[in-house]
Amino acid sequence: MTAGSTQSWVERAAKVLPGGVSSNVRLPVNTTVFARGEGPRLYDLEGKDFIDYLLGQGPAFMGHGHPVVNEAVAKAVTGGMVYGAQSTVEIEATEKFLAAIGWAEMARFGVSGGESDHGALRLARGATGRRLVIRFAGLYHGWYDSVLMAWDGNTGGVASKGQYADQLADWIVLPYNDIEAVKATFAERGDEIAAVILEPMVCNSGALVPVPGFLEGLRQLCTDNGSVLIFDEVITGFRLARGGATQRFGVVPDLAVYGKALAGGWPVSAMAGKAELMELLGTGEINHSGTFNASVMASAAVGATMDWLEANDPYPALEAWGTRLMDGLAEVGKELGANLHIQGLPMAFHVSFADSDAPAIDNLTLNSMDLARYARFATDLAEAGIWVAARGIWYVSITHGEAELDETLSRFRTALQAELARSRAA
Ligand SMILES: Cc1ncc(COP(=O)(O)O)c(C=O)c1O
Repeated sequence: MTAGSTQSWVERAAKVLPGGVSSNVRLPVNTTVFARGEGPRLYDLEGKDFIDYLLGQGPAFMGHGHPVVNEAVAKAVTGGMVYGAQSTVEIEATEKFLAAIGWAEMARFGVSGGESDHGALRLARGATGRRLVIRFAGLYHGWYDSVLMAWDGNTGGVASKGQYADQLADWIVLPYNDIEAVKATFAERGDEIAAVILEPMVCNSGALVPVPGFLEGLRQLCTDNGSVLIFDEVITGFRLARGGATQRFGVVPDLAVYGKALAGGWPVSAMAGKAELMELLGTGEINHSGTFNASVMASAAVGATMDWLEANDPYPALEAWGTRLMDGLAEVGKELGANLHIQGLPMAFHVSFADSDAPAIDNLTLNSMDLARYARFATDLAEAGIWVAARGIWYVSITHGEAELDETLSRFRTALQAELARSRAA
């Protein structure tokens, strides 16, 4: 066991890491330091286990420390890490990745999702010679100056000091799921619109499933107007299906960005698309670079993940298990008389408190729920041994099994009782 109490490590972290964390996304919950993760669980320094539904914000889709990925990386790395040139492991990984997603002809690997989003936006603008991009309120495409936006409301805006409004001037922000708003925007400015970018199913604000016709409508509008449809599949890729949201919803973009579940937890992202677009990177007309792109480790991790997902097809079991979890949580809520609201898909769903059963369809309807109460409840859940994001999303890994289902429901009940007692006392 690691020496020192959690408290002493939290204090040490606070001295050397701003806010005690290495990413602002981790700021709200900062009282736990983990010693290790294994499969669906994390363990703190005192040996307490947490059933993990945050999965490192998504990457640990195959559980923590999947042996197949670990072995592939360990083996590959004995031959060096970064060559500054092509490697066989990189070319194989790209072929396997393209075969898995099924619709794209070429790809480039990167290190983080935000970076590959940035690349896809540049590619779309470079290819069309247009600047404007349509996006949707509350969705997240990384923390870069020209991309990060306020989460609240249905309009967006600067989200950080050090960012300036003119850096966001080329965005048109619309409500998710509102195809009429997109149609009206294209009717007015279609020949200026380089791209439409979106999380095809939103997991950064709620778990918003596209309403029938929304993705299809975007596809048609982009085709009709010569604009590039970009799916940000950083969360949905390899999670909703092996072929991601594209497969699940049956709508094919021109470009897509992947990350998180792509490599069993290894930091890798990818931009994939039709050859006519992607080749513009190859001619050098449009710059996309990166020292660590397609490192030996990243390529080995992608290759092993692609092989494993193809050989084992975990999606039917994941869907069934996640459905039982969603139903079980709802049942506990009902029994205890809590106004829990659960929506999304079995592998990525959102829990909050709301008086209406109507599903949120955009950022405004999401924000009408009691998200602050859920964020407090996330602390009760951690106390009871369930690790979740304060923003309400739950991700399920392929390693969650029978033991985790029973224990999750019992721990959830304990946490909900604590929250209800607090609410009644307030
Ligand atoms: C949809 C989406 N796009 C992009 C990103 C940015 O990815 P990264 O944090 O790997 O840069 C995220 C991160 O959560 C995301 O959820």
